[in-house]
Amino acid sequence: MIATVRRARKLDGAIRVPGDKSISHRALILGSIASGRSRLGGLSPGADVQSTLRCVQELGAEFDGVKLEGCGMRGLHKAAGPLDCGNSGTTMRLLAGLLAAQEFESELVGDESLSRRPMDRAVAPLREMGARASWPPLRVGGQTLLHGFNHTMAKPSAQVKSAILIAALFAGGPTSVVEPIKTRDHTELMLKAMGAAVEVDGLRVQVEPATRLEPLDMDIPGDLSAAAFWLVAAGLIPGSRVVLEGVGVNPTRSAFIDLLLGAGFKVKFSRPRFVGAEPVADLEVTAAAALRPIQIDGDKAAEMIDELPVLAVAATQIPGKTVISGAAELRLKESNRIEAMEEGLVAMGADVTAVEDGWVINGPRYLEGARVSSHGDHRVAMALAVAGLIADGRTEIDAAECVEISYPNFFDHLEYLC
Ligand code: S3P
Repeated sequence: MIATVRRARKLDGAIRVPGDKSISHRALILGSIASGRSRLGGLSPGADVQSTLRCVQELGAEFDGVKLEGCGMRGLHKAAGPLDCGNSGTTMRLLAGLLAAQEFESELVGDESLSRRPMDRAVAPLREMGARASWPPLRVGGQTLLHGFNHTMAKPSAQVKSAILIAALFAGGPTSVVEPIKTRDHTELMLKAMGAAVEVDGLRVQVEPATRLEPLDMDIPGDLSAAAFWLVAAGLIPGSRVVLEGVGVNPTRSAFIDLLLGAGFKVKFSRPRFVGAEPVADLEVTAAAALRPIQIDGDKAAEMIDELPVLAVAATQIPGKTVISGAAELRLKESNRIEAMEEGLVAMGADVTAVEDGWVINGPRYLEGARVSSHGDHRVAMALAVAGLIADGRTEIDAAECVEISYPNFFDHLEYLC
């Protein structure tokens, strides 16, 4: 599908972005081993979370659209064939943790993009715990005698941390993980809510083995990484006012908002509340007045890794030189996001230079509509659509159906807000 986006006069309206993708994956995976029925309201409708759902169903968990029947810690069974994780790295890495600890062996496969992505980062620590795990192809499990261990992570990754913490539930003793920076902590919060013994001390997380997890009862907050596209778009288009209802603002996810505020964007929080352990608020974004350039290094980049493609779009409109560095991980996402964003934004007239670990972007530049490629990557497609909203003329984005991965009604929301 080719999506056509035209310059927007302004964005105006209130929307509810899809349920948080990271929390949705975790709710399905941990709910599948809970003792009893979980209620999971507002799960992400995206294809990635559907991949996780299909996998846990093949492993024996039943789901009726809201209620997930947990199988207990030892109740999953071997799937009939390889488990298809589709395009979803989170599905593959988190399930690798869960399945590494099972008595049966599982094989996890994915689409072309996922098959290219590195899985050794999850396999190596699982093997250190005594699990059978190999890649490629990714095969885990078949030996249940995992032992707890102390692991210091060289690189920040919430997916790898979560894979270890989930496997640790089945270990013979406590496991601790020390991160270089604090990555999203949804797994820790959810495990605690389910009654597991989880202790967090700064960058260190310790999990005790568990024999039982209580089922969940939660309404999943809106996805801040989906909201990010509207925060930038409405901030850049004069006269705009967009309200994003019920967005998750967990501090391990919200560094992007702080950065936007520092650059001069106007984002207001209202109705702050908690759903379970997760903080939620309504966000109101209005057009920014004066913008300042942004400098991002490794730690900051890791804290907002999923928001960097749309941040690159913002930087094309910020006066001066924005340097985004320390983001080499972007080359290992659903596409090579460093190259894909450079290619798309340069085609539209932006001054963007890709470097090994990010971009150098000089702004502001007048953007003109062009035919650009999503490279089949949902966040690239949505970031280029935001660029299309501020560009003259018509922007055509190819393979735009990939927004299905995280935000199936993205283009409906775009039309509604314009
Ligand atoms: C995620 C962690 C991040 C992020 C991804 C979702 C998660 O990946 O980019 O979209 O849900 O744990 P890494 O763990 O590879 O940094």
